[in-house]
Amino acid sequence: MFKIAIDGPAGAGKSTIAKIIAKKLNIEYIDTGAMYRAVTLKALRLGVDMEDENAYEFLKTTVLDICNGRFIMDGEDVSESIRTVEVTENVSTPSKIGVVREFLVEYQRKISDSKSVIMDGRDIGTVVLPNAELKIYLIASVECRAKRRMLEREQSGIFKSLEETMLEIETRDHKDSTRKISPLKCAEDAIVVDSSNMTIDEVVSEIIKLVNERGLIKMSEKNEKYYVGQTVTGTVTGVNSNAIYLEIEEGVKAVIYANDLLEVPGKLYLEYSEGAEYTAQVKSIGKDKKNPNVVVLYLSTKLAYEKEQAEAKEKALQEKIAQFHAIKEADEVINAKVLRTTKNGAELLYNNTKLFLSYKHSSLSEDALKQLKGEEIPVIVLYVNEERHFISVSQIAAEKKQKRLAKEAAYGALEVGQVVEGEVVSILAYGAIVKLGLVSGLLHASEIDHFPVRDVKKVLSVGKKVTCKVIKIDEEKIGLSMKALTTHPWEVLKEKYHVGDVFEGTVKKIIPAGLIIELTPEYSGLMPKMEYSWLVNEKYDGVVNEGDKILVKVMNIDDKKFRVSLSHRETIENAWSGIKLRKGEIVEVEVVRDVERGAEVTYKTVTGFLPVNEVSSAKRVTNVTDEFAAGTKVNAMVLECDPNRAKLVVSVKAIEVAKERESFDSYMKEQEQENTGSTIGDLLGDALKK
Ligand code: DC
Repeated sequence: MFKIAIDGPAGAGKSTIAKIIAKKLNIEYIDTGAMYRAVTLKALRLGVDMEDENAYEFLKTTVLDICNGRFIMDGEDVSESIRTVEVTENVSTPSKIGVVREFLVEYQRKISDSKSVIMDGRDIGTVVLPNAELKIYLIASVECRAKRRMLEREQSGIFKSLEETMLEIETRDHKDSTRKISPLKCAEDAIVVDSSNMTIDEVVSEIIKLVNERGLIKMSEKNEKYYVGQTVTGTVTGVNSNAIYLEIEEGVKAVIYANDLLEVPGKLYLEYSEGAEYTAQVKSIGKDKKNPNVVVLYLSTKLAYEKEQAEAKEKALQEKIAQFHAIKEADEVINAKVLRTTKNGAELLYNNTKLFLSYKHSSLSEDALKQLKGEEIPVIVLYVNEERHFISVSQIAAEKKQKRLAKEAAYGALEVGQVVEGEVVSILAYGAIVKLGLVSGLLHASEIDHFPVRDVKKVLSVGKKVTCKVIKIDEEKIGLSMKALTTHPWEVLKEKYHVGDVFEGTVKKIIPAGLIIELTPEYSGLMPKMEYSWLVNEKYDGVVNEGDKILVKVMNIDDKKFRVSLSHRETIENAWSGIKLRKGEIVEVEVVRDVERGAEVTYKTVTGFLPVNEVSSAKRVTNVTDEFAAGTKVNAMVLECDPNRAKLVVSVKAIEVAKERESFDSYMKEQEQENTGSTIGDLLGDALKK
């Protein structure tokens, strides 16, 4: 058997190192800090004044035990409960109380009495195990320990500055090393190991080297025919009300105390008689006080059961840890019940497991959380400390995730083409942001109306409710349109007006190019000047005024230029259409009546003019009707025909003249044929003579 004591200030790495060494050397690790924590937990639960030495009466009935690395107090596994923030915050008080230290030191000595152990604490080398074979005083610089502590705390959701943490450690070092009873002190024969610049492995190797140098392992191997957990059978040599005494073999005795029996019968001495055989498991190994050569095995029948229990508990714990790892991996939001609040945060419960919610990770104040006691709040697992079974959670992260999910769902529910109701939440230079419940979309200025909106503020304002159509969903960007929900005014116009339609339009404006005729509130049409009348000289100036109604016909609708052209004259029948007369053509006209300097005649659908001097070549005529009574149809020659000007001038005289010329011409032709070779002068002379 051998004992290793590890002392040192908080944060030097004692428990981490001691646990690894215990495993490597197959010896028991005893965490004395856990015992001070357990006492603190009980004091807190009982609500006693921890500064009062008399408050620790409860220690008399307190039973501590370590079973398979689990810490048991009064039969309850408190391995996790002693690691809460509240216990850590209070443990320094019971640690300075004399009765507490006496009680625990005695217990520590007792449990290490019969086996090889590695024990860590503050006073192990100096008080608890002054005869330990190896004493280590593990230290690290304040800064280094502060950094380790910060890291550890950050994982638990507690954030403090380096300066603050260093000051805290220095204060605690001072408290630990200046307290009256068992102050933190390096034992004279301890070996100081500074872990500041060493890795965990380096520190472990260093200590194992020291163990080997002392030949401790060999010594232990020699004595270990019996080992903890071994099943042994012996003969009962004595029984009293508290214990059964056995002999295993020569030089090896055993004892089993009543509280180590799985089932305690009424009276031991009635149940177990001397000489009977009895089988149990080795709980610990010691020496006989009177004869050190005699080995005493402390037995238990609870061991296997306890081991099983502990293993089942450990398994359940591991499953729970795995469950929390899975929850963390999946970033799952869980609903945990608020148990109570402490200085740093709230204790929550989920699936029978306590969780820690630091105020830093909660959007709810301490008071608000207090109010929520007994109620469930959504949280996300931030950190799972397997060793300490410590699980820290964040309510802020859960809130964020829930918001994000709701947002995603809202995005998912939206479809291009959907019509949505929204509220304008901000006006931008190029549009407006419209809130649609949890998500927002952009209503670009070009999508407000079919016509350009230059100043968004003029048409929209914050708070205005709008109905929009979803026109784009790109990742998380939503494009909205108001104009998509209304028919383009041009389309409205096209439904109302078609090429060929005749309607009475209002003259909106008279411009040099023509008349602007109102069509719809958005659009007007142009009636070009020349479209007023079939007659070139007929003008609307002075006839048509702005605001007047005028009959027009739709001539063209230009979709590219958004223009409509109109005509007034097309609404009037054109008598001159189809009248195409060449100058010199002979037409039959009807004399209607005399007018100034001639007579009005009709030709088909139009009216013409027969000048009085064009009636006869032979005589002077004063009135046309003197020659041709009204209603007379006469042949006349077209002198001029201009349908655009509604002008037709005819002549009767011209026919006569033409006839005369014709007869003269034919005569001349005959003569020419008879007198071939004569000169033109001769021919003319001849004709005149005739
Ligand atoms: O090692 P730890 O942090 O779990 O210890 C908890 C407290 O217990 C610590 O603040 C000091 C005290 N303690 C002590 O006074 N003596 C010991 N042997 C071990 C711990």
